[in-house]
Parts: sequence; structure tokens; C-alpha cells
Amino acid sequence: MIPHSRPTIEADDLAAVDRVLRSGHLAQGREVQAFEEEAAAALGLGGGVATNSGTAALHLALLSLGIGPGAEVLIPAYTCVALLHAVRLTGATARIVDSDPDTLNMGVEAARRHLTAATRAIIVPHMFGTVAPVEAFRSLGVPIIENCAHALGATVHGAPAGGAGDLAVLSFYATKMITTGEGGMLLSRSPDLLAVARDRRDYDHRATHRQRFNYKMTEMQAALGRSQLRKLSRFVERRETLARIYRSALREPAPAYTGLRDGDVVYRYVVRVPDPDAVIRSASAHGVECKRPVHSPLDRLARTSFCPRAAEVFRHAVSLPLYPSLPEATARTIADLTAQIVARPDEHAEVPSLGSPA
Ligand SMILES: Cc1ncc(COP(=O)(O)O)c(C=O)c1O
Repeated sequence: MIPHSRPTIEADDLAAVDRVLRSGHLAQGREVQAFEEEAAAALGLGGGVATNSGTAALHLALLSLGIGPGAEVLIPAYTCVALLHAVRLTGATARIVDSDPDTLNMGVEAARRHLTAATRAIIVPHMFGTVAPVEAFRSLGVPIIENCAHALGATVHGAPAGGAGDLAVLSFYATKMITTGEGGMLLSRSPDLLAVARDRRDYDHRATHRQRFNYKMTEMQAALGRSQLRKLSRFVERRETLARIYRSALREPAPAYTGLRDGDVVYRYVVRVPDPDAVIRSASAHGVECKRPVHSPLDRLARTSFCPRAAEVFRHAVSLPLYPSLPEATARTIADLTAQIVARPDEHAEVPSLGSPA
């Protein structure tokens, strides 16, 4: 089976983790600190706080802004449910905003309509690597958490994406632009916001009590993250090369939602098709794993007011395999297969799945 996504782990990644394991120092220490400094330098920000997941980083980012019960936080409908979890962990209310059906990012005007006197933050993800208009969100006058979980390596007017919000959040989950297996980081220019996050990441050795967590990253994860970060630009280029192959073969039958503008990274190659389930089923029968890029729009999960644009995207969006080690010839085969499936869905529907009994 050609997987939808796959981490790229090379000899120097293995050596980095091996070195830490042999050192005997496994819990948060110098590697974590160095990873935070290197990631902050890569994003042009003052500092970072590494965590054991992107969700934890989002939670700490919200806490750094003082968000808790009574506050409202805007999040888009077409995104990962981690955003909803992070907001609800603080006791705040998530206001779910409809998405822009062209970019798959949160709609700025839709966000404006959800502002109330209780709005305390907006979490703006750069969905699938497509840079969202953070400056336009800033003009709404509310603190911004720039969610770069999909967009490490993206740029805005030549500067790294992640610098326009009050805080930036990364995820290093296994499928992300770079990985530490699980992991995340929040970054900021503000020493005050970083200090709150750093305090709450770890629960021990304090003179006074407040709610704190164990959100720490291990030294093995940080060593892997440092090694991966050095390869980021190569990973970004490789993804773009593969996206070009998809783009030239699929422009007509399955137009892309992602990777269309300068500065974006192609974290996911998401295309518009008449029936995503038919593509997923038929591609699977041919040994290719395609996926819905979002499992369920959040308005549906949270049972809040209906977001019609996110629903429309959900009806048509499907994500094709994309990762740095995917061979170009395989990308060409996947593109041809996808074009055939879209042109003649019925012919492919009857092919038995690889995993099903004969
Ligand atoms: C946009 C976005 N934000 C946050 C997260 C959460 O990251 P993690 O899985 O590291 O907790 C994800 C997860 O995939 C995501 O896609």
C-alpha cells in the first residue's frame, strides 16, 4: 500500500536519537533548549517552549493569553479537532467560524461576524500549508494564535510564516513537515507570554500552587527535531516537486485547493473531486491510500450553528499521498489513477479492496 503520509527518517536522525539515548539524559534538558532556540531562529521569533504535542502547545498558548471560563475563542470549522479540544480545556467557549472554500482557511469576514465583547483570541491555522491572511485577522483587534502546524517552512513576503501573530504554534506529529514522533512548540516575541507557558508546562519545584501540567518534550524528541529542522528546506522543495507533478496531470479533472501561491508549503495535496469516498475506495483497491483531509467539520462535531462553506468543502475535498520520500514516478502513477477514477468512477467502484477477503 502506498501510504497517504510517511515520515522521512535518515541516518543522521537515527544517530541524533542514538546519541541522546547513550548519554543517559532523557528528560527535558539541553537538547530541548537547543531545539527551542533553533526553531525560534528559523521563525525569526524571540523564543520557544517545546511541548509533547501541538495540542499541548495550543493549550499553553491560550493560557498565556489569560483565556479561561467566560472567554470566547474563534476557530475555523474546517480544521483539526485539536483546536476545539484546546479551547475547551481552558474552560472557554469555542466560536466556530465558516471557512473560505477557495483557500480552506478561516474566512476573515465570517470571523468578524462572530466577534463579541467576550472574544479573547482567534486561532488562525494555515491549513495544509496555505498561508492565511494573518494581518487581516489582526485588524479585528483580538490577540492571534498563528497555528503553523501545517505550515513550517512557509513564507509571507519572504519572511517565515508564524511571525504575524502574538504566538505561533507548531506540531511535530509523525506526518507533519518535520517530526519528533509526537511533539509541538509555541513561539513568541513576547518574553511574558513565553514565561507563562514555560511555567505551566512543568508542575514540580514551585513555592506556590496553581494548575500546571506535564507537557514536556523528551531529549530524544528534541534531538530528532533538531536533525529534522536542518532538512526542512529540502523537504519543502521535494514536496513542491511532487505537487508540480500532481498539478500538471490533475488541473482539469481534480483541481487543487492547496499549494497554489508563492510562499505556501504543500503539506497536503488536496483536490476537489465529485465524490471523495469513491476516490478513497477505488484508490485503496489499487493500493493507494487517499484520505479526507479533515475528519469532520467542527460545527458538525460540536453541534453549533451550521457552516455551509465548510460542509461544501467536506463534500468534495480529498487528499493524495504526499511526503518527501514518495518517488516521482509513483506520484505520476497516482495522478493518472486519480484522473481515471474521477473520469470513470463506476468502473473502479467494483474493484475489491486489497484488504478484503477474496
Ligand atoms: C492545524 C492543526 N493544529 C493542531 C494540531 C494538533 O497537533 P498534535 O497532533 O501534535 O497535538 C493538528 C494535528 O494534526 C493540526 O492539524
